[in-house]
Amino acid sequence: MKVLYGLAIALIVLAAAAVAYAVSPRALEGVERPDPQRFDGATVAHGERLALIGNCAECHTAERGGAYAGGRPIPTPLGTIYSTNITPDPETGIGTWSQEAFRRAMYEGLDREGQHLYPAFPYHHFTKVMPEDVDALYAYLMTREPVRNEPPENELRFPFNLRPLLAGWKLLYLDNERFAGLPDADEKVNRGAYLVQGLGHCGGCHTPRNALQAEKEGEFLRGEVTENWYAPAIAGEVPAAVKWNEAQLTDYLAGRWVDEHGVALGAMAPVAHNLSRVPEEDVAAISAYIALLMEGDEAETDAEITGAVGELRNGDDIGAVIYAGACAICHEASPSPFAAGLPLAYSTSIRIPTPLNLVRIIEDGVKPPEGRPGRYMPGFAGALTDDQMVALATYLRGRFTGLEPWADVADVVARRMRSEPGSGAETAEAE
Ligand code: HEC
Ligand code: HEC
Ligand code: HEC
Repeated sequence: MKVLYGLAIALIVLAAAAVAYAVSPRALEGVERPDPQRFDGATVAHGERLALIGNCAECHTAERGGAYAGGRPIPTPLGTIYSTNITPDPETGIGTWSQEAFRRAMYEGLDREGQHLYPAFPYHHFTKVMPEDVDALYAYLMTREPVRNEPPENELRFPFNLRPLLAGWKLLYLDNERFAGLPDADEKVNRGAYLVQGLGHCGGCHTPRNALQAEKEGEFLRGEVTENWYAPAIAGEVPAAVKWNEAQLTDYLAGRWVDEHGVALGAMAPVAHNLSRVPEEDVAAISAYIALLMEGDEAETDAEITGAVGELRNGDDIGAVIYAGACAICHEASPSPFAAGLPLAYSTSIRIPTPLNLVRIIEDGVKPPEGRPGRYMPGFAGALTDDQMVALATYLRGRFTGLEPWADVADVVARRMRSEPGSGAETAEAE
């Protein structure tokens, strides 16, 4: 609470400073909903590809809601923010927004009326996107089906519910600048950097944030918790057991299985699912850039780590007993391709600084995306007690990595058990 109070004061001071800088931004004129026929097919198709890379539908579609009609809850440490309706419905969506108003939202985080938008909408990445790409996104959204839907009010704690305070945040953290290009890199890597830093907003999940939810400079893609999943470091020294190469990254990001790394799960699954639907050259470009950021990583390059790393210390270890009885059947000798799990020595989930992903996966299991065949793992939430879960997670970390034991397994397990039961982490695996 003390921390929050301190934050509140800091924000108020910032806001005061910001008032001098930017007194209420102006509202922009509403327009008639543009005639969908006005936009040419090639621009709309280009916009669709960009919308997939930007994950727009993922955040702007509620469970069982219309596409892009908003209302999806986005949990943040400051409370819950609901995404808005970005279909061209004139009353509840952005049907009356001009192209100028849309550009301003993407670059300055303002709605048409001039209200500040929360950076849960990753506009601090979208500033990097070139205007022609932003206009193609506009064309794509304006040619979608209008859906009438009023998203719920945000549930943010005071003082974070005060939008004018965001002026202070922007003053500190928002650079309204387009992607400048990497001078020493080739065209493919440059394309990848443009997509990763801009529309793909990979840093939105993978970059550590400060108390005001701004991504820390100098720690680009070094690992962070987002929406109760830990997005591992994918730059510098990374936790993966086996060194990633560009081809493996391309397969993984396009939603395919990789023998040394498995398949995208949890919050990464929709990202990979969307990337599986864009031209492979974009995915390859992203991979080339990420592979470059991972250069210097010291992980083993070969795959000879299948066996136990640590010793099986104690035959009475409850964790060892559970692993042998409930997990090994699929993770060591898989009975069928759909039940085949990654040998756990390869799993990044036991090598990251938190047991969060591991505990979630064990509790909730893994299922293929709705209506598609794919790999399946049952959830063990009802089958294991808290103590057994702690023993199992501790055992897996000890047996398959040479890393320090986690200090907070019991806390994470207790916290998870009190939260809503999940419906299973989806995989992104493409058919
Ligand atoms: C990580 C989640 C997330 C992603 C990804 C995302 N948005 Fe949003 N967006 C939001 C949230 C949350 C808001 C509402 C913010 C607020 O209320 O202050 C928002 C607001 C907006 C708004 C302002 C609408 C209004 O009525 O005020 C526009 C326009 C928008 N998003 C477009 C996009 C586009 C285009 C993309 C893809 C390139 C995209 N968003 C991707 C979460 C997201
Ligand atoms: C919505 C949050 C989110 C976004 C956006 C996101 N990621 Fe991830 N990413 C995750 C999570 C969570 C994991 C861990 C998944 C797991 O344990 O299977 C992950 C895992 C990964 C991994 C595997 C790391 C490893 O060693 O196992 C790679 C590579 C990756 N992401 C790349 C990217 C790239 C590139 C982008 C941008 C195009 C991106 N991610 C955008 C959340 C995200
Ligand atoms: C019916 C087969 C099955 C059983 C039983 C099973 N799993 Fe899985 N598991 C899978 C499949 C399939 C996946 C998804 C593919 C993958 O990523 O490994 C998976 C994924 C995982 C992952 C994520 C691996 C990654 O990609 O990083 C972990 C961790 C995991 N399982 C742990 C366990 C543990 C611990 C147990 C025992 C309590 C267990 N599993 C039991 C089939 C199974």
